Amino acid sequence: MLEQGLGKLEIRKETGCTIALDSVSLNLDEGEVFVVMGLSGSGKSTLLRLVNRLVDPTSGDVLVDGQSILGLQRNDLLNLRRHQVSMVFQRFALFPHKTASQNISYGLEVSGTNRQEAMEIADQWIETVGLQGFGDAYPHELSGGMQQRVGLARALAADPDILLMDEPFSALDPLIRREMQDELRILQDRLKKTILFVTHDPREAFKLGRRIAILQEGRLIQIGAPREILESPANDAVKAFIEDIPSL
Ligand SMILES: Nc1ncnc2c1ncn2[C@@H]1O[C@H](COP(=O)(O)OP(=O)(O)OP(=O)(O)O)[C@@H](O)[C@H]1O
Ligand SMILES: [Mg+2]
Repeated sequence: MLEQGLGKLEIRKETGCTIALDSVSLNLDEGEVFVVMGLSGSGKSTLLRLVNRLVDPTSGDVLVDGQSILGLQRNDLLNLRRHQVSMVFQRFALFPHKTASQNISYGLEVSGTNRQEAMEIADQWIETVGLQGFGDAYPHELSGGMQQRVGLARALAADPDILLMDEPFSALDPLIRREMQDELRILQDRLKKTILFVTHDPREAFKLGRRIAILQEGRLIQIGAPREILESPANDAVKAFIEDIPSL
C-alpha cells in the first residue's frame, strides 16, 4: 500500500497496522557511535530492534558483517544475540533476585562459559564500570545510575561487536546522565564497539554521535556528522531539534 502511494493514516485506517519505518536505509561503520534521534513514536526503538530481530521487517534486509540475519534459525539467532549483538535497555531490566555480579555472569554462563571464569569476568567488569565493592549488591540496593552501570557491564561482558542502546540514560537524573555519557565515551575510546544509540535528547546525540540520523514519522530525514547537521539542517523539524545546540 505504501508503494501505491497511500499514507500512514490511510493504511492504519484500512488495516490497523502502523508503518513504524518507511524506506529507511543506512550503514554503520565498524567502531562508530551512530545515534538515532527523533520524537516519540518516530520509529527509533523499532529501528534498533531490527538489528537483533526483536522485530522483523515486512520488507527489506538487515545485514550484519555483510550477512543477512533475516534467515537465521533459532540457534544462530541465539548466537547472534549472545555473541555479536548486545542490548542495553532504558529501564535497566536487571534480574531482581541476582546480585550485580550474577546479573553480569549469567549471560556468560548461559552461553557456555564455566562459572568460575564467568564470575572472574563479571568482577573485572564491575571494576571497569566503577562499581568496586558492589558486586554482591542486589539491584534494589543500587541507585539508578549504578543499576545502569550493571546493565552496561552485562552487555559488554559478552564482548559483542555491536551494542544496541535504547535511551539507556533517560531514566537517570541530569548529572548522573552526563557522568554516564562521559564514561561511555572513555570506555568506547578503548573498546571501539559499533554502537547504535537511541536518544530523544539532542545534547546527548551531539555529545556521543560520530554520525546522527534523524527520524520523523518513520522516515529518515537526515544523516550526517553533528557539524553537518548543525550547519545545514534538512528541514524545520531538524532545526527544532538543534535549537539549543549552538549555544553550548
Ligand atoms: N509492538 C508494536 N505493535 C504495534 N505497533 C507498534 C509496536 N511497537 C511500536 N509500534 C508503533 O510503531 C511506531 C514507532 O514506535 P517506536 O517504539 O519505534 O517509537 P520510538 O521512536 O522508539 O518512540 P519513543 O521515543 O516513545 O520510545 C509507533 O507508532 C508505535 O505505535
Ligand atoms: Mg523507543
